[in-house]
Amino acid sequence: MRPTEAKKEYYRREAKRVGYRSRAAFKLLEINNVFHIFNEGMYVVDLGCSPGGWSQVALQFIGKGKIVGIDIEDIKPLPIEFINASIEDPSLSERILNILGRKVDLILSDMAPNVSGIWSLDHIRQVDLVYKAVDLAEKILRRSGNMVVKVFEGEMFNQLREDLSKRFKDVIIFKPKASRKESSELYLICKGFKQVS
Ligand SMILES: C[S@@+](CC[C@H](N)C(=O)[O-])C[C@H]1O[C@@H](n2cnc3c(N)ncnc32)[C@H](O)[C@@H]1O
Repeated sequence: MRPTEAKKEYYRREAKRVGYRSRAAFKLLEINNVFHIFNEGMYVVDLGCSPGGWSQVALQFIGKGKIVGIDIEDIKPLPIEFINASIEDPSLSERILNILGRKVDLILSDMAPNVSGIWSLDHIRQVDLVYKAVDLAEKILRRSGNMVVKVFEGEMFNQLREDLSKRFKDVIIFKPKASRKESSELYLICKGFKQVS
């Protein structure tokens, strides 16, 4: 088995052993170990939440806090509020705020488009999802709130990072060990939302 396959297999087995629904759960655990994104009682929105690994991790840390998960795919029951919709749904911000009753502390986005295999096209589609997540943040993220977004490296990456830096105090690039080395996937840890409202 190639080292990358062995690593994938390791995380797959670990996820099964611990009861996580996805290997991706380990990426979020690493992000939290380094950046301490979770707090007791916080309100979280998990974009692209299916099958539920990231929400499972968030549930471990937020105590009496709440999670609203959004995905175009369905999800097996978890103690979160689930909205079966696309990030493009214009009613999403209102629905989230109605459920939670106030703005959110943290937005997570592990959204990824169906991969076409055409690298540049997949990059554009993925960056588009991130901009949609940022548009949503403008409406539902509290001032000084945080956001974690998955991005694929590519020609639009620097512009995206610059745009995010206008809205957040700190934007840090992070590649979790649980993410395959050869994958262009990165995470942007965006801290301190600047919106005043
Ligand atoms: C890598 S998976 C997320 C895995 C998840 N973080 C976990 O740990 O279980 C990416 C998800 O993004 C979702 N997605 C893709 N496009 C979307 C869109 N337009 N709106 C909402 N979700 C979307 C997919 O359906 C898929 O479930």
